[in-house]
Amino acid sequence: MPRNLDPSKEGLLRSHYDEAARQSFEDDGHDSELDLDATEFLDRASPPSAEPKSFFGPRDSPVQRWSALRRATGRRRCCLVLLTCMLGLWLLIGIGGGVVYKVFQKEPPYGQSPPWYPAPKGGIARTWAASYEKAAKMVERMTLAEKVNVTTGTGWQMGLAVGTNAPAVYVGFPQLQLQDGPLGIRFADNITAFPAGITVGATWNRKLMYARGKAHANEAHRKGINVLLGPCVGPLGRMPAGGRNWEGFGADPYLQGIAGAETVKGIQSEGVMATIKHFVANEQEHFRQPWEWGLPHAVSSNMDDRTLHELYAWPFGDAVKAGVASVMCSYNQVNNSYSCGNSKLLNGILKDELGFQGFVMSDWLAQRSGVSTALAGLDMTMPGDGLDWAKGKSLWGPELSRAVLNGSVPLERLNDMVTRIVAAWYQLGQDDEIKFPRKPPNFSSWTNDRLGFLAHGSPSTQDLVEVNKFLDVQSNHSSIARQVAAEGTVLLKNDNLLPISPRGLGDANLKRRRDVVERATGKRHTGKFKVGVFGEDAGPGSGPNHCKDRGCNQGTLGSGWGSGAVEFPYLVTPIETLRSRFDKSEVELHEYLSNKLPMAGSDQAALNDLELCIVFANADSGEGFTKWNDVSGDRPNLNLQKGGDDLILDVASKCGSGHGQVVVVIHAVGPVLVEKWIELPNVNAVLLANLPGEESGNALADVLFGDINPSGHLPYTIGKSLKDYGKGGQVLYRPKGAIPQQDFTEGLYIDYRYFDKHSIEPRFDFGFGLSYTTFEVKNAQVTPLKSKSPLPASRPTPAAKPPTYSDQIPPASEVLFPAGLRALERYVYPYLKSVDAIVTGPYPYPDGYETKQPLSGAGGDEGGNPDLWETYVSVAVDVENVGPRAGSAVPQLYLVYPAREGVDFPVRVLRGFDKIYLRPGESRTVDFNITRRDLSYWDVQKQNWVMVTEGEYQFQVGQSSRDLTAVGIW
Ligand code: BGC
Repeated sequence: MPRNLDPSKEGLLRSHYDEAARQSFEDDGHDSELDLDATEFLDRASPPSAEPKSFFGPRDSPVQRWSALRRATGRRRCCLVLLTCMLGLWLLIGIGGGVVYKVFQKEPPYGQSPPWYPAPKGGIARTWAASYEKAAKMVERMTLAEKVNVTTGTGWQMGLAVGTNAPAVYVGFPQLQLQDGPLGIRFADNITAFPAGITVGATWNRKLMYARGKAHANEAHRKGINVLLGPCVGPLGRMPAGGRNWEGFGADPYLQGIAGAETVKGIQSEGVMATIKHFVANEQEHFRQPWEWGLPHAVSSNMDDRTLHELYAWPFGDAVKAGVASVMCSYNQVNNSYSCGNSKLLNGILKDELGFQGFVMSDWLAQRSGVSTALAGLDMTMPGDGLDWAKGKSLWGPELSRAVLNGSVPLERLNDMVTRIVAAWYQLGQDDEIKFPRKPPNFSSWTNDRLGFLAHGSPSTQDLVEVNKFLDVQSNHSSIARQVAAEGTVLLKNDNLLPISPRGLGDANLKRRRDVVERATGKRHTGKFKVGVFGEDAGPGSGPNHCKDRGCNQGTLGSGWGSGAVEFPYLVTPIETLRSRFDKSEVELHEYLSNKLPMAGSDQAALNDLELCIVFANADSGEGFTKWNDVSGDRPNLNLQKGGDDLILDVASKCGSGHGQVVVVIHAVGPVLVEKWIELPNVNAVLLANLPGEESGNALADVLFGDINPSGHLPYTIGKSLKDYGKGGQVLYRPKGAIPQQDFTEGLYIDYRYFDKHSIEPRFDFGFGLSYTTFEVKNAQVTPLKSKSPLPASRPTPAAKPPTYSDQIPPASEVLFPAGLRALERYVYPYLKSVDAIVTGPYPYPDGYETKQPLSGAGGDEGGNPDLWETYVSVAVDVENVGPRAGSAVPQLYLVYPAREGVDFPVRVLRGFDKIYLRPGESRTVDFNITRRDLSYWDVQKQNWVMVTEGEYQFQVGQSSRDLTAVGIW
């Protein structure tokens, strides 16, 4: 058995469709669960700060009313009343929602997402031409049922992975196995729990980004996975409290783009398909999908075209350029059209403008309609179920077969969908049966037992087979995990305290320190050096896998929660490492692994003698299907959780009676406020270790003891208050309407761009990070390589032609339920029971469907117009290590646009970074290649990337977004 696994994985999955379960509890006769579900529903339907909505009267909360009603009427009657009310409410909201929205809701500022048809066909890029050729030969031999199989998931828990489509058996296309997620292989044993994306972003190390992706995919491959559901570059991090920001790499499109692309390259170098997600603007968890929050519709992220291009879609462009095989469209709506059915996003931006050649897959249940999603550019629906979890009622499957037969989904669209999927499979070399045996994964996502069912989600009788082989695929990946965690640790403050030594402080420091304390207190410490370690976050708690999907904050924090989390094979806690790293003959270690200090007794007395106190605190968040305390996916604020601030204050005042030195260590999903204690004179050092994964303690010790010189830099801004991030930085916690509208009126101004524009002093600026040495960045040299011109070269003629197929609608018999097939209940098949009722005729296509959109000047190849990726200017700077130790510097280049009338530009935007290792006294020249895309802004009139040809571009290079010491102009 794998170590530390939650004994019931089945339980892990329930929460994923709790809302669906709630909707159907009456049908299922789950009377005994009613009180729990009902109160949970009311609770979830009202976000934390919302006034309770009561049908009974103005004063009592729904929960109080519910208890009163239950006492008065008896349990069963009461259940019926509540049930009727809930159904009534749902109906009211469901039916009335649209009307209410039209009547009462203000028109969103950016209008409705415009139509973009027809869906561009894959197969135009030279880089994919050979794979499309092979794919065409396979697809032309498929029956209609086989084609539908390839596009449609078989249903929730109908395979061993979290997503499986069905094979096209007769032509040799296998079932694909899709598995989460960005941090490791979800629900699997004997795998590596890597540091989270946010930690990777904090390394600013391209090589490590690649290495982590590669190691992750190597494990996925050996576990039998074809498609990894990562990396994640959306959420981008518009709101610092956003629940899933930690899965991505930081609150800047350039950083996300580079980290995403390197991860994609790393993953795909192992032959595994990467999935860049979530496209697009899934910036918060509240209301991210229908019903999960009690509302019939998901939140709409409303934004202007320029913001979409320059911020939210930007990193997806890098991933497409890197050759990503798959893009996952998100749950939310964008400008009031669901992302997975938004033709402007999928057909227009992704497939035409960015020239995406792979396939678009829906997030799990993010597909909200059948025909129109196919027309809008969706290629694969996951997990295959339709609007509800685990019912087997797909919006595609048999319905797609019917839609093709009756002509509402053009056959050529279906052919393109399938060709894109098959081409991606060839592109990654997965047709090689030796490398990719056509077998299910060697682990099951749904049980820890060796034996289980292949279609766990089906109630039909099945044979028990071996589903878990417990294959250890970790290799030496822990060393990559450790290096990422160490390099992703940001030193925020250091008053000559760190690094410490295994003997406490170095001899000279120790003597100096004891002299200082003696002068202040009249008392001299003698004997062993006394160290205290404080906080639940330093210790194991109840084990790293105590809560399903890591959906609670206990023990040391190694990851956030949700589908991006994994079962930790182990987690090296900070306390474990500190125990073994301190030299016991010289150091006396006192452990206080709770967030409350002892009030009395010897432990309390020992506090007064401590010379060094290391205090741990944290902040957690995760995916919206799980709630922990007041953290409903998104955090309610940026405070340290579980009393972390008070603990730090307490430790600072009591450590050595206020004369001890304090190191604060923070594990966090994103920015946390540090104002209450950061300036205390004895808080001498602060380390932000982000989310370190399984090697937490080891990586921390590497930095604390100076085996590794810290080189992490902030992938976001740490403000002095949540308000500092502006209106756009606030999560929408209350729906304020049937369809929550989230207007991104701040446009381009998120994170440091907002702080810079409004001259707000952050506590720690974006890109900031200290080292145990000192670097200088100087002498910017600008070398123009191409001359400025407003628009990119004209869109190139495609290097290849998409395959063509017969447009004859196949015989309906191809999708008739095969006689004798023992169908599994709830499993999604492509078959129809009867084809008699298929009638062809006019179809109410979406508005704009008949108008062919002009191709974008920004497109023409994989990643868009190739000219956008050309280097136009290069900037060189000298970086010198002028301090006493070897270490890695992170020079960062920020671009300042020339002024242009009528166009507003951010003060500066990140457009380059590097990480270089320098010995003391060593100096190196670092080159930044600046592309046309880097130099351009998105012109909404011209619908293209435009370079500013008048005035001068300025390149500011330094060690953070506010420490820019070398400037060049072009
Ligand atoms: C998440 C995705 C994930 C999918 C499959 C969804 O709830 O949003 O990121 O890949 O589930 O687990």
